[in-house]
Amino acid sequence: MASFPFWSMICIILLIICTISINAQQFVKPVLTQGGEDPDPVIRARRDFVKQMMKDAWDHYVEKAWGENELKPISEVGQPGNHFGGAKVGCTIVDSLDTLYIMEMMEEFTVARDFVRDELDWNVDASISQFEATIRFMGGLLSAYALSNDPVFLKKVVQLTDLLQPVFDTPTGLPYRHINILTGEPNRTNEKNFLAEVATLHLEYNYLTDITGNPTYRQRVDVIRNFLNQVPKPYNGLYPSELNVITGEWTSMGPPTDSIFEYFLKSYIETGLPDTLGLQMYYDSINAFFDNGLIQTSSPSNLEYNSEMVNGTADPVVHHLTCFAGGMLALGVYWMGSEHPNATRDMQLAINFTNTCYESYLRSVPKLGPVRFRFDEDEEAVGISETDRDWKLRPELIETFVILFRIRGDTKYRDWGWEIAQNIERYCKAGPGKG
Ligand SMILES: *[C@@H]1O[C@H](CO)[C@@H](O)[C@H](O)[C@H]1NC(C)=O
Ligand SMILES: *[C@@H]1O[C@H](CO)[C@@H](O)[C@H](O)[C@H]1NC(C)=O
Ligand SMILES: *[C@@H]1O[C@H](CO)[C@@H](O)[C@H](O)[C@H]1NC(C)=O
Ligand SMILES: *[C@@H]1O[C@H](CO)[C@@H](O)[C@H](O)[C@H]1NC(C)=O
Repeated sequence: MASFPFWSMICIILLIICTISINAQQFVKPVLTQGGEDPDPVIRARRDFVKQMMKDAWDHYVEKAWGENELKPISEVGQPGNHFGGAKVGCTIVDSLDTLYIMEMMEEFTVARDFVRDELDWNVDASISQFEATIRFMGGLLSAYALSNDPVFLKKVVQLTDLLQPVFDTPTGLPYRHINILTGEPNRTNEKNFLAEVATLHLEYNYLTDITGNPTYRQRVDVIRNFLNQVPKPYNGLYPSELNVITGEWTSMGPPTDSIFEYFLKSYIETGLPDTLGLQMYYDSINAFFDNGLIQTSSPSNLEYNSEMVNGTADPVVHHLTCFAGGMLALGVYWMGSEHPNATRDMQLAINFTNTCYESYLRSVPKLGPVRFRFDEDEEAVGISETDRDWKLRPELIETFVILFRIRGDTKYRDWGWEIAQNIERYCKAGPGKG
């Protein structure tokens, strides 16, 4: 749903590296890199290169757009972006906290922490996106708290979350899309909301309950998930994409749904596995892809992919946003164990679908992107329209590479990630240092 700044991408990758090595039933023993330097100097040099990419981007933001939500890299001015009603809330700073910490850029992290403590202010008279506020601000502050244990982050995230609560004031408990956190008024004119924006809140709210001991946060999202579990789902259990938050009825049958499947699985993992409803809903939704014939293979290249159901028909199109699914499926198998009856099916699809997404990169000119690709008689895994060929610094495929590398130990995924890092540096970098 969201477009990520570059450092979010790096931070997601690193968070995954950190979280995957928790003990679990093992499908293939993960390669462990924690607890020491990688013995291979080439790998260490690549890691330092990526860290330098982060440093360049951060320094440039600090110099040109400190406190703004985003930096426009070519004109070198700040901009508010689309999600916060024009309010200036230092989004890049909050989004970067965990990356700075994980990369051990402690000087920069401290400056960012001080911004959160002294300048980040929720007195904003603007209509902000509930979903973006959750994944960026709650997610960013909670990750920083999880890593550093600094109470500054906990205090800020509780303040924000409490200001967001009127957004759930609906007969269904499903949230409105936008809210003014100064007046506490949700935008009630718009009764429609996307499935991803309604349901991809579980990890943040669960964790907030864990660290505050206040059960109301978890209750909020449990209401939503119970609603989704029982709501009639047309097409053999497949989730449509948009709901009316007052009536609870579906209002659209197409994409985007993306991240909810991942959150079903990850909330099962996050709770230390007692969340079996999350696991059940994860499996029901994966099985629904197979049962509806959405998993297809292209010809002549034999690329396996997940097509989208639009009005009851499989549309042979893949969004880059869907490329997280290779990692998700592999993670599911990793946690469920290879004895699960569908483990082989899911792991094969994880591998094949990741190849397909990588192919879409190789078939683009800069070997980055596209944001959406199609399959038809003439073309396989290429962006057709001009805008489909964009690359929006999205992290999904690299995240998938990290998970597959960690779970399967196959170094080709690390090499593919390295190719992409170099292409980002070559084609996407602007401003000082670019020459
Ligand atoms: C509320 O939502 C409606 C419908 O999407 C939109 O037209 C209107 O501008 C929004 N109001 C505010 C204050 O943002
Ligand atoms: C395995 O997949 C099939 C086909 O989607 C499904 O019917 C079956 O319930 C799945 N088994 C489990 C245990 O999820
Ligand atoms: C997926 O990959 C496996 C092994 O890599 C291969 O045997 C299988 O044919 C692939 N499936 C499709 C539909 O391409
Ligand atoms: C799906 O069907 C609805 C109702 O028949 C129609 O309004 C809509 O345009 C269709 N959507 C697509 C993408 O074909």
